[in-house]
Amino acid sequence: MDYEKILVTGAGGQLGSVLVEALKIKFGQDAVIASDLNPIKNYTGIYEQLDVTDKARLEQIVKENKVTQIYHLAAILSAKGEQNPLLTWDINMKTLFNVLEVSVEEKVNKVFYPSSIAVYGDMAPKTDTAQTDFLNPSTVYGISKASGENWGQYYFLKYGLDVRSLRYPGVIGYQSLPGGGTTDYAVEIYHKAVKEEAFECYLKPDAMLPMIYMEDTIRATLELMDAPKDAITVRTSYNLQGMSFTPEQITANIKKYYPNFKVSYKPDFRQTIAENWPSSLNDEQARQDWGWKPKYDLDAMTRDMLMQLTKQYNLVTQ
Ligand code: SER
Repeated sequence: MDYEKILVTGAGGQLGSVLVEALKIKFGQDAVIASDLNPIKNYTGIYEQLDVTDKARLEQIVKENKVTQIYHLAAILSAKGEQNPLLTWDINMKTLFNVLEVSVEEKVNKVFYPSSIAVYGDMAPKTDTAQTDFLNPSTVYGISKASGENWGQYYFLKYGLDVRSLRYPGVIGYQSLPGGGTTDYAVEIYHKAVKEEAFECYLKPDAMLPMIYMEDTIRATLELMDAPKDAITVRTSYNLQGMSFTPEQITANIKKYYPNFKVSYKPDFRQTIAENWPSSLNDEQARQDWGWKPKYDLDAMTRDMLMQLTKQYNLVTQ
């Protein structure tokens, strides 16, 4: 295997904390540098404290470690972003520009940049939303991701920087908790079910959104980054679809295992965010270009989530 040194920003986050472990298995413990704004609890491996708005510090880490790949996961998500739009714009864009600039300056081979279903707005078709459908995002997070995708493409075209990106649906996993997103309910609902507590949902029962299981998310990310350079025909960001469901459907699914599980609904501002997003994405291009195929549907995900969380909670109470 070629020499690789991989820097992950936002490594303490929902996706980052799982991705660093997958990268360590693939490339070796010493090949992965986890970085975050704050120390990562119980993390074993190479860790660097990093505020990605600090370009000098980023540059120092990349230089000293001869970093070959950056996975830039640090960002403020959709719901949290609305509390402070200008700060969210500043942080999401400044960190991206620092990653892109340092990557060009230090000759980093590949950059991964996560985008989102949030890039779409009310002018795109709701279902089976195509790769090339119109982008009129309604959240500051969505605006930053739509711009970020295009900046990624710009750095590819202008400087030949190999930036790759996925438009993630809501990510669901047992390993970590999300923070500040609109799709977060679909993680919390499983925790409540396993703890045999009632769940109050901030979306309406029929709010259908695209979602994806963590295992599929990680696999998609690694497959995209492994694909031969000339197979990548989309340099903004690839649509990625796992499954689609509503709060009512996930509840019914969980009730097969927890028949007494109670869910009530109290929609808040996140319902408005969800209403502007697609309910399913067309990911044909990802399938064609690098062979994407999800493994988990709602049934398979529910089985695994409930089993894993039951184990986790049992461990904690032992
Ligand atoms: N899961 C993200 C959010 O809800 C969407 O990319 O903000």
